[in-house]
Amino acid sequence: MIKPPYKLRCEYLENPIEIDSPSPRFSWVLEHEQRNQCQSAYQIIVSSQRSLLSSEEGDLWDTGKIISEDHINIEYNGKPLKSNEQYYWRVKWWDKDNTESSFSEVSSFETALLEDSDWKAKWISKKEFVEKETRHTLQYKSGGRNLFGRLREVKAIYLRKEFNLEKPIEKAKLYICGLGYYVLKINGRRIGNRILDPSQTDYNKIALYSTYDITTDLQKNNAIGVILGNGRCIELYGYDFPKLIVQIHILYKDGTNDIICSDESWKVSNGPILENGIYYGERYNARLEMTGWDTPNYDDSEWNNVSIVEGYNLASQLMQPIQISQVMNPKNMSSPQPGVYVYDFGQNFTGFVRLKVRGPKGVQVTLKFAENINEDGTLNFATNRTAPVNEIYILKGNGEEIYQPQFTYHGFRYVELTGFPGVPTMETIEGYFFHSNVPKVGDFICSNDLINKIHKNVIWGQLSNLMSIPTDCPQRDERHGWMGDAQLSAEEAILNFDMARFYTKYLRDIKLAQKEDGSLSDVVPPYWPIYPADPAWGAAYAVILWYMYWYYDDIRVLKDHYESLKKYIEFLSINANDNIVTVGGKYGDWCPPMSIVSKRTPLELVSTWYYYHDTLILSKIAKILGHEIDFNRYTEKVKEIKDDFNREFLMRTYKYLKSSFIDRAISQTSNVLPLYLNMVPEEKEKSILNYLIDAIRGHYDYHIDTGIVGTRYIFEVLTDNGYPEIAYKMINQTSFPGYGYMIKEGATTLWERWEKLESSGMNSHNHIMLGSVDTWFYNTLTGISSLSPGWEKLRVKPFLPEDMNYAQATLNTIKGLIYSSWEKLEDTLIITLNIPVGCKVEAWIPIKHERNIIKEGDTVIWEEGKQSESKLSIEFKEIKDNYVLFGLGSGYYKFSVDYF
Ligand code: BGC
Repeated sequence: MIKPPYKLRCEYLENPIEIDSPSPRFSWVLEHEQRNQCQSAYQIIVSSQRSLLSSEEGDLWDTGKIISEDHINIEYNGKPLKSNEQYYWRVKWWDKDNTESSFSEVSSFETALLEDSDWKAKWISKKEFVEKETRHTLQYKSGGRNLFGRLREVKAIYLRKEFNLEKPIEKAKLYICGLGYYVLKINGRRIGNRILDPSQTDYNKIALYSTYDITTDLQKNNAIGVILGNGRCIELYGYDFPKLIVQIHILYKDGTNDIICSDESWKVSNGPILENGIYYGERYNARLEMTGWDTPNYDDSEWNNVSIVEGYNLASQLMQPIQISQVMNPKNMSSPQPGVYVYDFGQNFTGFVRLKVRGPKGVQVTLKFAENINEDGTLNFATNRTAPVNEIYILKGNGEEIYQPQFTYHGFRYVELTGFPGVPTMETIEGYFFHSNVPKVGDFICSNDLINKIHKNVIWGQLSNLMSIPTDCPQRDERHGWMGDAQLSAEEAILNFDMARFYTKYLRDIKLAQKEDGSLSDVVPPYWPIYPADPAWGAAYAVILWYMYWYYDDIRVLKDHYESLKKYIEFLSINANDNIVTVGGKYGDWCPPMSIVSKRTPLELVSTWYYYHDTLILSKIAKILGHEIDFNRYTEKVKEIKDDFNREFLMRTYKYLKSSFIDRAISQTSNVLPLYLNMVPEEKEKSILNYLIDAIRGHYDYHIDTGIVGTRYIFEVLTDNGYPEIAYKMINQTSFPGYGYMIKEGATTLWERWEKLESSGMNSHNHIMLGSVDTWFYNTLTGISSLSPGWEKLRVKPFLPEDMNYAQATLNTIKGLIYSSWEKLEDTLIITLNIPVGCKVEAWIPIKHERNIIKEGDTVIWEEGKQSESKLSIEFKEIKDNYVLFGLGSGYYKFSVDYF
């Protein structure tokens, strides 16, 4: 008997309760005791009742035995699914020898609201918001919309409703969209542990609702309370005012149903949250708390009736919510001035703090947040730019009071506390690190401490910038979905985290942001509508789409976005002159050392290169989807762009760009980009490469001179062309500019700039756009790279730097666990691999000489320059550049080489 499938997922999630697709997809993971195994067939059964599945009956769908190796994203194709239902499924498999497993454990998925018409509830809000005049006095300091729209961060509003249940209930599910952000309470208890929900979208196009199972939260008499904060749902960001829709579906034990909806019977009031805003922070007056407002039998006669308002199109959120992943304790507290207390968390992160305080009624305590500190120990707020970033808490004065904000977040390492009654302690504040709670799937560690630190900073920076959209930074007056930052860090994000849901959602955001003419915005959702996007930013569409296919084997997204991507490429094409793109480029190889816009790398070169890059991806997608005419057309186009790119840039720019006769500097990026996509005419390839290498060695003394674009590709180009040790040396630099320099200067995340800058301007200390280096650790140091969609074929080709003793990586891929490690022991090199069922690997085992002996387990497999014994599932392929290449199937392998 073989082990049944496990880790069953529906739409990438385990037992989701918010599916809004009529044909959700199923995936599972396989394990086998034997090597070189794969699935030869599967059977899925889906049922309306758990009990039916115990008797292995699928009343909704029984695929029967399907001959197929696929076990990722198998589309449901049974009887139509209904809204707000729970379904159960199991799956079994046959291995390649046709041995059959038993059925898996039962997994389930629940539908949310599949049709717009399932929504019976009404959108509600507060009268003063609806009327333009009063809204303006509430939302703008001047009371009128002026140029900069000086924001008055309007109060949060409190909404409530009581209802009774006359019969025992079987199940209750609640669907809610509260914009900008909501906090949901039932019978005095907070429901769920989401923060800053729902996910940010362009509300004019789509708003996302969240789903909660509230079966155990209900009783006979109930009160539901919702607090609404501003988030981005105010005029300043292109919307009007906060609003709410809620719908509860009750199934009674006797089989009957009820729906409870937001409607005109709800009541609304102001409350203790006096001001709230993403950038602003929050002002909270505890004296205005309304004890019991979220419990039954509260006297709300003073509250107002809500207004029915116009709402937005809705879709299920279906992605990991923002949640606290780590409680942070301050490492140090100091008092640089009387009454001013400064806490240092020792780590730059995204979140807020919880305050504990005792004191007299009316005392006002202020918390301020910053990434940096001045020499005198006070906070340096410069990198927040115009974001005020503070919390003000006014005490109610009865015993210990605990406060944490609801509708804001900060990017910070230091906190300043003033106005505190008495002397605070280390326990006075506690930090919470939160972000879109994507599961961690990658792990990397090695013997080089600096590389481990860079990796750690990337992880902190990446998570800090997942706030339901991929943000640029968490601290200053931006925090936007800048698409350049998003695309350049996408592969790193996918190696470290399960990004499938996050990026599926973001791709829809991109599509919805597309204009009729095909153009995209630099920022998505387009809270700052900057059209047309710089091509390096617009590339996020093609890049993320491609990675969804490449890493998650997701064909559905390719289909969903094909026409829009094509429209975007056509937009670039119309705006190109002889295939040279001059429109939209404004950032290019953004932020190289010592400048913001690159002086060495022309904007047009970067823009045109991305035009080529995106068209190439489009042509591949056309092929995959069987659009033959498009495939031929875009393949032709790709050739044309390449020729024109070389005609325009080869001789003038990417080979020779020097500032002057005596300045030997060339643009690293201009040379790296065409090498990366094999665009250089064959006869020139060697000389371009040598030119780059000479400049890195001679002129740059093994330092990076790239902005965010060049940095993304340079290490890979050097490695693929036989110079991994140069990439390694550049990454390890501790002098300016380099990752090691940042770390030497105290960075605990990645900076926006290579320089250490702490004044206001473009100086964020928590940007992720240079985080792309992390992929090199996985792809080169532990050598794992994917060679086909969904990891079906992969390569493991570790690079062993002289000064390193070990490296190890784990990747929990969609196919299962990939593991690669190497360790130099006294006279042996040990390489360990784990390859999931269904995957084929090219295993490149490093040797020093052809005479080295390679063993797998206890068996000698390579001796005297040839394969000594053919071992099941280990197949010698070739010997090249001090590696012996074996073809392997799934399983666990331990190789040893007498390396030294
Ligand atoms: C952001 C960047 C972004 C850039 C566009 C900045 O203000 O912080 O990360 O990509 O603008 O040039």
